[in-house]
Amino acid sequence: MLKITNKVSYVGKIDWQLRKFHGEQLTTNRGSSYNSYLIQDKKNVLIDGVWGPFAKEFVDNLQKIIDIKSIDYIVALHAEPDHSSALADVLEIIPNTPVYCTANGVKSLKGYHHKDWNFVPVKTGDKLDIGASALTFIEAAMLHWPDQLMAYLDSDKILFSSDAFGQHFATEFMYDDCVDNSELIFEAMKYYANIVAPYSKKVTQKLEEIAKFNLPIGIIAPAHGVMWKHNPNLILEKYAKWANAYKENQITVVYDTMYGSTRRMAEVIAEGIREIDPSATIKLFHSSTADNSDIITEVFRSKAILVGSPTYNSGILNSTAAMLEELKGIRMQAKKAAAFGSYGWAANSAKIITKMLEESGFELPEAASITANWNPDEAALVACFEFGKKFAAFAK
Ligand code: FEO
Repeated sequence: MLKITNKVSYVGKIDWQLRKFHGEQLTTNRGSSYNSYLIQDKKNVLIDGVWGPFAKEFVDNLQKIIDIKSIDYIVALHAEPDHSSALADVLEIIPNTPVYCTANGVKSLKGYHHKDWNFVPVKTGDKLDIGASALTFIEAAMLHWPDQLMAYLDSDKILFSSDAFGQHFATEFMYDDCVDNSELIFEAMKYYANIVAPYSKKVTQKLEEIAKFNLPIGIIAPAHGVMWKHNPNLILEKYAKWANAYKENQITVVYDTMYGSTRRMAEVIAEGIREIDPSATIKLFHSSTADNSDIITEVFRSKAILVGSPTYNSGILNSTAAMLEELKGIRMQAKKAAAFGSYGWAANSAKIITKMLEESGFELPEAASITANWNPDEAALVACFEFGKKFAAFAK
C-alpha cells in the first residue's frame, strides 16, 4: 500500500514477472502493474481492481487496509479483465455495492462476469459526492475500449485516467520522477503505439475536452505503471504530439530472411538512404527475432518504413505477415513506406507487401518496391542502393 495523499491510497499490484500481455500479443519487457486506488472520505471508494491471478492477494491486502464491507462505492473505469477480475472477488463480499461505470461498461462487465451487479451508469460531467470531495466522471470511449471512463477527484486534483497515459512498467517507485526518464517515456510510447494509436483522433478530441474542463491536474493516475505527479503536463503534451501524425527523423527497415538475400537487400537499401539523408536515424530489425511490439514502437516514431520478405510458398514469411497485419489494425498516420524482397522463381513477396502497406494507410512512392533474384549479385545490390537513395528522397 502506498499513501498518495491523505485520502487516496494505491492498492494495486506490481507485476514484476509479466513479459506478455493481451495473451501473447504484446511484450512487456519491464513488467507491469495493475493500478487500483482506494479513496477514504466520508464514503469509501474503490477504483478498479487487478488481474485474475492476483485477485485473492488483492482482496487479502485490501482487507488489511480497510474493512471491505465498509467500501461504499466501486468505480470500474474499464472492464478489461486486467482491471475488473478482482472486482468480481470484492463484489462476492459486498454484492449490493453500487458499481459506477459507463453504459458500455455495464455491457462489457456483464459480458465478462455474467453478473447483474448494482450498476450505476454515468456520463461525462456526472458527479459522485463522497464527503469533503467529489468525483467527476469523464467518458473516454475508445481510449482504448468503448467502455473507458476517467474520474477526477477535486479535493486532491487527481485524474484517474484508466489505460490512457499508462505504461507497462514495474517499479517500486510509482511516480514519474522516481524512475529513469528515458525508460519511462519509451514504455509510455510503446503503450501508445501498440494500444492507443488506432484511436489517435479520439485522443485529440479527449485532450481538448479535458482542457476545456479547466481542471487543475496535480496527479494523473493511470491504470498501469507510474503516476504522473512531478510533471503531469509532460504526458499530456506527449499524447497531444503522438496523436497528431507523430514522426521523428527516422527510417525503419524491417525484414525477414531465409538465407540472407533479403537481409543483404535491407542493408544495402539502408546504405542508399544514408547517402541521401545523413541526419536520419536508420534502424534495421529482423522481424523473426526482434521484439515485435518494440518494432511497432519504432515504426510509430518513424517518418518512413521499408518492409522486406523473400517469397515463400508464393507468399511472404510469417513474421512479416504478422507485423503487417498488426500495422493494418493500428493504421498509423502520415507515414511513407516501400517494399522489397528476394525470390527464386516467383517475385510475389514485394507485391504482397506493397498491397498490405497500401491497405494500412501508408503513402508509397511510384516505384514502391524492389526485388532481387536468388542471391543478389553486384548489379542487384547497386539497384538496391539506388532504390534506397530514391526512397530517402521521397521520405524527406
Ligand atoms: Fe489495462 Fe485495457 O486494460
